[in-house]
Amino acid sequence: MYPKFIIFITILFLSSIMTTKGQNVKKLFEYPNVRRNETIQDEFFGIKIHDPYRWLENTTSDETKKFIQEQNAITFPYLQSCTYRDKIRKKFKQSLEYDRIDGPFKRGSNYFLLKNQGLQNHYILYKMLNGPDDPENLQIFIDTNEMSPNGSISLALTSFSNDGKWCAYGLDESGSDWNIIRIRSVVNNTDLNETLTNIKFSTASWTIDNKGFFYSRYPNESRIDGTETTVNKFNKLYYHRIGTDQQDDILVYETPDQPLNRFYAKVSECGRYLNVFIKQNSEFEAWYYYRFDNNQTKINGKLSFQPIISTFDTNFQYISNDGPIHYILTNRNASNYRLIKVNLTNSDSIQESQWKDLIPEHNDDVLRSVRIINDTFIICHYIHDVKSRLEIRKLIDGTLIKMLNIPLGSIEWISWQRKNDSQAFFSFTSFLTPTTIYRIRFDGDQNFEPILYQQSWPKNFDSKKFITKQIFFKSKDGTQIPLFIAHKKDIIMNGENPTLLYGYGGFNSVMKPRFDPKRLLLLENLNGIYALAGIRGGGEYGKRWHHSGKLLNKQNSFDDFIAAAEYLIKNNYTKSEKLIIEGGSNGGLLVSAVSNQRPDLFGCTICRVGLLDMLRFPKFTIGHAWISEYGDPELNEINFRYLFGYSPLHNIPSEINNRLTNYPATLLLTADHDDRVVPLHSYKYIAQLQYRLGNRFPNKPFLIRIDTGTGHGGAKPTDKIIEDTVDVYSFIINSLSLKYLD
Ligand SMILES: *[C@@H]1O[C@H](CO)[C@@H](O)[C@H](O)[C@H]1NC(C)=O
Ligand SMILES: *[C@@H]1O[C@H](CO)[C@@H](O)[C@H](O)[C@H]1NC(C)=O
Ligand SMILES: *[C@@H]1O[C@H](CO)[C@@H](O)[C@H](O)[C@H]1NC(C)=O
Ligand SMILES: *[C@@H]1O[C@H](CO)[C@@H](O)[C@H](O)[C@H]1NC(C)=O
Ligand SMILES: *[C@@H]1O[C@H](CO)[C@@H](O)[C@H](O)[C@H]1NC(C)=O
Ligand SMILES: *[C@@H]1O[C@H](CO)[C@@H](O)[C@H](O)[C@H]1NC(C)=O
Ligand SMILES: *[C@@H]1O[C@H](CO)[C@@H](O)[C@H](O)[C@H]1NC(C)=O
Ligand SMILES: *[C@@H]1O[C@H](CO)[C@@H](O)[C@H](O)[C@H]1NC(C)=O
Ligand SMILES: *[C@@H]1O[C@H](CO)[C@@H](O)[C@H](O)[C@H]1NC(C)=O
Ligand SMILES: *[C@@H]1O[C@H](CO)[C@@H](O)[C@H](O)[C@H]1NC(C)=O
Ligand SMILES: *[C@@H]1O[C@H](CO)[C@@H](O)[C@H](O)[C@H]1NC(C)=O
Ligand SMILES: *[C@@H]1O[C@H](CO)[C@@H](O)[C@H](O)[C@H]1NC(C)=O
Repeated sequence: MYPKFIIFITILFLSSIMTTKGQNVKKLFEYPNVRRNETIQDEFFGIKIHDPYRWLENTTSDETKKFIQEQNAITFPYLQSCTYRDKIRKKFKQSLEYDRIDGPFKRGSNYFLLKNQGLQNHYILYKMLNGPDDPENLQIFIDTNEMSPNGSISLALTSFSNDGKWCAYGLDESGSDWNIIRIRSVVNNTDLNETLTNIKFSTASWTIDNKGFFYSRYPNESRIDGTETTVNKFNKLYYHRIGTDQQDDILVYETPDQPLNRFYAKVSECGRYLNVFIKQNSEFEAWYYYRFDNNQTKINGKLSFQPIISTFDTNFQYISNDGPIHYILTNRNASNYRLIKVNLTNSDSIQESQWKDLIPEHNDDVLRSVRIINDTFIICHYIHDVKSRLEIRKLIDGTLIKMLNIPLGSIEWISWQRKNDSQAFFSFTSFLTPTTIYRIRFDGDQNFEPILYQQSWPKNFDSKKFITKQIFFKSKDGTQIPLFIAHKKDIIMNGENPTLLYGYGGFNSVMKPRFDPKRLLLLENLNGIYALAGIRGGGEYGKRWHHSGKLLNKQNSFDDFIAAAEYLIKNNYTKSEKLIIEGGSNGGLLVSAVSNQRPDLFGCTICRVGLLDMLRFPKFTIGHAWISEYGDPELNEINFRYLFGYSPLHNIPSEINNRLTNYPATLLLTADHDDRVVPLHSYKYIAQLQYRLGNRFPNKPFLIRIDTGTGHGGAKPTDKIIEDTVDVYSFIINSLSLKYLD
């Protein structure tokens, strides 16, 4: 799977261990000699910042390719030297081998289901020939495993026409955010001829006549395969009529004066309204709409959209509508979200003062999603202290009908259709419960009791051996932070257990408990502890929680995570030498920032696809969208100073600092097709880490694993997940000298 040169270097590596042993020198690695150019610098508000590895930002140059080869050439032999790799692989594959399903969901008159038998690279989309009561009677509808034997192609999007006869589906390749869209007939499972390209971050929303759909795309660039780093701009909204070429698509909206806008189209259920949500950043959107004159959706050119809220300071999610009355889930003036009714009849009725609450904001619990079903009921999914709960309410006035009894854990999705559907399905999971599907019927005796629909279980997993709990600890400023902890029932709490602390703390994302086959090995075979922290910056307690961990409050995220680590040590779960921290993307920023701030506190840092150069992040692909989360280092001096204070690349402790007695063993992971957080962040960071600390801690590994043919992580095929997991465990076991227990 990896290029051939690794075999050659393996031999080199082993012989160098032998010589260093012979000379009694404890130096584990000869890091590659990475060229520094001290003359390259940027000036921010009068301060000159050196960027000696700027050349690594050119990810296609021969010199960068050589850098990648040389880094992998020390990393893979170190990972492969772990003696437990075969056991780890075998155990992990066993933990993956059970049916996983998403669905059923109804579109038109058909039910569909996504299913992975366990080790298949990607889920397959099936048509349920006989409906949900006959779950074995399946026909393959879309199978990306057939399109790419190595798993490089995956399903990124599906959107069915209102009559259920067509499915517009998006594919991504090698984990890139770029999609193509094709259109498949549900009647005979064949594709139309056209393929739409240049698509990223788009919906596909059909017109009521089932003749086509709205989507957004970027202009044609010379190279867009996900390895480029160019800024995504000049997104435009188009209408595609099925059976025609993409070049004949009709441009319906663009904002050339605001090139960073992105467009998300949503045709109302009745077909009369086209809502467009415009995003400039990763957080808020503006809401515009267009009303078609009649049911004839003739689209010949640009549509004149009317603004409802154009200030980019709120989240709006279209749920449904009855004529002009739109049901919208929003956090406008509601940190915990509320469901409102907005009357789109005329400019007066649209005024914010005329908005009505259908479900007002809850004092404590966050309304994460709402679904309308059977034309009568609303299913509300709340998060209460990071655990899911469900309510059934009346659509007519929002009044509560019933609180549902569900186990402690998380709901991942709810499938429903407002019209012509009388059953909802939802998936439930917790640390010790693999995805379990429940069904609620709305056409029976109206007791709305969730009934088990499907559950499947890895053969070797005995949940009774483990316990999970939720505790709350105090952070630096006294704020109570939720922390989930899972481990074997019978381990001894002597401060010696390897403990993996995971966190994210950004973008309103909730760190919910869920079953993860990757963690079983830690709990079972390393006698380890898994801890998941709901630090600020996430959405665990609504917008206020997010906002108290972003921009100039970002340090709160880091402080919360550090306090979680201190709690675990103080309470005898583990000690610093055995404490592993892991995070990806914004969580990669988190674990790197805290490693620099508290190098004494951690034994091992796993930084996945991290955002690490906080002074240049807006310059690549979609990075500019995160200015709402981190601030603008170029145009805002206060933001610049704050970012410069924690940017991992700029804050690695210096080796001449004698007080620096420890730094965690560090593994960075990235991949050539990551066009979300471009891999150059990790390239520059590892070069600087090795340069700064390689000599100071000669027995610690500071390594980077650069994968080919994958991206930011979302679309990763199972084969790649297995190799990634084996490698990460190998790193943890090697660097902390752990024992694998059979
Ligand atoms: C550093 O970069 C400058 C500008 O690109 C270049 O002229 C110079 O040769 C480089 N120096 C080294 C040592 O790479
Ligand atoms: C990257 O390097 C290649 C090969 O040296 C060169 O052709 C290309 O212009 C460089 N790209 C940028 C953006 O500097
Ligand atoms: C409603 O669903 C039933 C099957 O559940 C199907 O026979 C019927 O065609 C559907 N009606 C519409 C309008 O989609
Ligand atoms: C498949 O069905 C669609 C209508 O859903 C039709 O337009 C198309 O011609 C059919 N294709 C084949 C190969 O039968
Ligand atoms: C679709 O493509 C095939 C093969 O290229 C061609 O024979 C067929 O006529 C095309 N159909 C349409 C509707 O363009
Ligand atoms: C992009 O350019 C290619 C080649 O010139 C062309 O085939 C394709 O239709 C273009 N795509 C769009 C969306 O304009
Ligand atoms: C649009 O179609 C719906 C049903 O398909 C009908 O109830 C409604 O009256 C139509 N509206 C107009 C303006 O024609
Ligand atoms: C609601 O929120 C908006 C945007 O944050 C703000 O401008 C407005 O003053 C708020 N209204 C109330 C009643 O608090
Ligand atoms: C929507 O607004 C229009 C115009 O102000 C009004 O006539 C109508 O009654 C409103 N509808 C509802 C349900 O409030
Ligand atoms: C809604 O449920 C009722 C029974 O409660 C049933 O008679 C009706 O057909 C359902 N309606 C839809 C649109 O599914
Ligand atoms: C932690 O474990 C050690 C070893 O078993 C024990 O001596 C100590 O009392 C424990 N401390 C706490 C706070 O439980
Ligand atoms: C997977 O296969 C495709 C061709 O089917 C190829 O383009 C791609 O490079 C392969 N990816 C990997 C990671 O081998």
